[in-house]
Amino acid sequence: MRAIQIDRYGGPEVMIRRDLPIPRPGPGEVLIRLAWSGINFMDIHTCQGKYAGSRTYPVRVPTTIGMEGAGTVAALGDGVTEFQLGDRVAYCLSWGSYADYAIVAAWRVVPVPEAMSLDLAAAAMFHGLTAHYLAHDLGQFGPGVTALVHSASGGIGQLLVQLGARLGATIYATTSSEAKAEVARQRGAAAAFLYDEGRFADRTRELTGGRGVDVVFDPIGRPTLRDSLRAARTKGLIVSFGSVGGSVKDLDPIELGEAGSLFLTRPRLADHLDDAATIRRRAAEIFAALLDGSLSIAIAGRYTLDDVEQAHAALEDRRMIGKPLLQLS
Ligand SMILES: NC(=O)c1ccc[n+]([C@@H]2O[C@H](COP(=O)([O-])OP(=O)(O)OC[C@H]3O[C@@H](n4cnc5c(N)ncnc54)[C@H](OP(=O)(O)O)[C@@H]3O)[C@@H](O)[C@H]2O)c1
Repeated sequence: MRAIQIDRYGGPEVMIRRDLPIPRPGPGEVLIRLAWSGINFMDIHTCQGKYAGSRTYPVRVPTTIGMEGAGTVAALGDGVTEFQLGDRVAYCLSWGSYADYAIVAAWRVVPVPEAMSLDLAAAAMFHGLTAHYLAHDLGQFGPGVTALVHSASGGIGQLLVQLGARLGATIYATTSSEAKAEVARQRGAAAAFLYDEGRFADRTRELTGGRGVDVVFDPIGRPTLRDSLRAARTKGLIVSFGSVGGSVKDLDPIELGEAGSLFLTRPRLADHLDDAATIRRRAAEIFAALLDGSLSIAIAGRYTLDDVEQAHAALEDRRMIGKPLLQLS
């Protein structure tokens, strides 16, 4: 089978295309013949070695990159009773999806509804399940809740805005361009504006009558996090769920006190997908919303194993609006 592996950490040059034997599933595992893999920032971070010392994501070289996919069950390991050969399935947070086949622990795998295409299922898992826990468990979106969503035209951002609007929350959105802001408005943001060198915080306060929002979702980090503190209400919540713009390494907790006794969390998806029932519940809710039309995912591009570097470059250059996919078998 074809696969893209890394043996060392670095830029796009560390990705090597290889022909490998089709692996065999061990006990509790399934072999999936992949139709589609999601392409995510996390794949770039994996190549860069961002998880080299992580306990949450213990992915080490050599490895096949990619950690999200959809396809059909091609073989079952001992003890797997919940799936049959040929079942249409999807998963995320298991490395090895830039390949024709992947081995995945059965508890991480969810069935894909008959009416859902496999490309949409692949696009929905990682970003959909992330947006689900951010909106429900952390933001507690509902009527009366106000939130600020940064990078609102990104894969997670677009879903967070839609979930917020659907659940009755008021969502303010930031982006790096007017074209991206328009995407956020179309997804249901009450207002969308540019980061404007941190002045998004003043704009957010104006829009909330000086109060600030209940919760800020910040996947960017260093360029925005301190101003995100200024955008939150007293005793509000800052959800720092990524650092695509670089890490904040010098935050003194007293800054949270000065900003109004704020709560700051750095959550990870793995801790919100810690058993099969939770994964199935979150995926079923996201799939149902996609099928009834109340959520939608824009596929930003379809790539192959020969041109996947172009997708990584577009992600890094902030040219991607929506979700890129990798086509396999
Ligand atoms: N904690 C969790 O559970 C969790 C789960 C999934 C992903 N994440 C993290 O969330 C972040 C976003 O992931 P994603 O998959 O949603 O990506 P994405 O959809 O591709 O969104 C990335 C967006 O980030 C914005 N951005 C700001 N600064 C950037 C920079 N220096 N370089 C590139 N993009 C920048 C861009 O929007 P603008 O141009 O509008 O700024 C870009 O569209 C990543 O850090 C990822 O690791 C965290």
